[in-house]
Formats: sequence, C-alpha cells, structure tokens
Amino acid sequence: MVAGEDRWNRGYHTAAHAAHRLILEQHTELRRLLALGLVQTCLPSRDRRSAPAVLPALVERIKRAFVEHLADEEAALLPLFGEDLDGPRRVQLVREQHGRQRREMEALQALSMSESDDPFAEEFDRLARALLVDMAEEERALALAVALLDERTARHRVGAQRPGVEGSRH
Ligand SMILES: [Fe+2]
Ligand SMILES: [Fe+2]
Repeated sequence: MVAGEDRWNRGYHTAAHAAHRLILEQHTELRRLLALGLVQTCLPSRDRRSAPAVLPALVERIKRAFVEHLADEEAALLPLFGEDLDGPRRVQLVREQHGRQRREMEALQALSMSESDDPFAEEFDRLARALLVDMAEEERALALAVALLDERTARHRVGAQRPGVEGSRH
C-alpha cells in the first residue's frame, strides 16, 4: 500500500515537472513570435503598409502555436489539478481563460483579413501584451506549485526513511 502510494507520488512529481518544462519551452517560442509581431506594430504605419502581409502571416503562426499550446497545457495540467482539493475550481479557471484566449485569437485573425490596417495593429498590440502578462502569471503560479510539491516530496522521503515514521500521513 505504502509502496503503491510512493510510486503514485513519484509519478505525480515526474508529471508535474514534465508539464512545467513543456509549458516553459512553449512559452519561450510564443514570446519570440509575439515579440516579432510587436516589432511590426511599433513601426510607423506607412512602413507597415510597405510590407502588408508580415503581421497577418505572423498572426496565423501565433494562432496555430497558441492553440496547440493551450491543448498541450490542458492535457498536461488538468489531470494534475484533479488531485487537489480546489481542483475543480482551478480546472474551471483554466478552461475559462483558455476559452477567452481562443476567442480573442479567432477575432484577431478575422480582423487581420479586414481592409483596415490600424485597428488590426492596435488589437494585435493589446492582445500580445495581455498574453505576455497571462504567461508570466501562469509561470509564477506554476513555479510556486512545483516548489511546494518538491518540498512536500522531500519531507515525505525524509519521513519514510525514519524508523517509526514510515508511511505516516497527515
Ligand atoms: Fe494557459
Ligand atoms: Fe500557457
């Protein structure tokens, strides 16, 4: 029973670290793409008009990468939340945030196909900044959760090595 629980703890720990790594890697690529787009929106609009397809093409790539990221994040994180006491609330928060991000990406892509260049560039600028903030907040919450998990796992291992404390749970 205790051995089974240890195995489960190790599996949970490994899955949490793998999810953390995957999310950080994907955020790095998304930041790179968003930064390329933000460089475009900082150009004077006459320069943007000289290369009109640059930003819409980037939005296409960002949307594809972001939608893939949201699916990967849900697959990696949501099963881990299921073990927490406030798991259902956290699952709902992630689903709501991801739903909003998907809708905003769709709307931005639709705007990229319209004639008006300036509203599209302004909306890209707003959304890119909002997504950068979302990713930073997500990383902070994840780093904290992983640090707490590491601490709990280390305490559990020390407890398991002490005679008489083996397998104790609080
Ligand atoms: Fe997310
Ligand atoms: Fe994310």
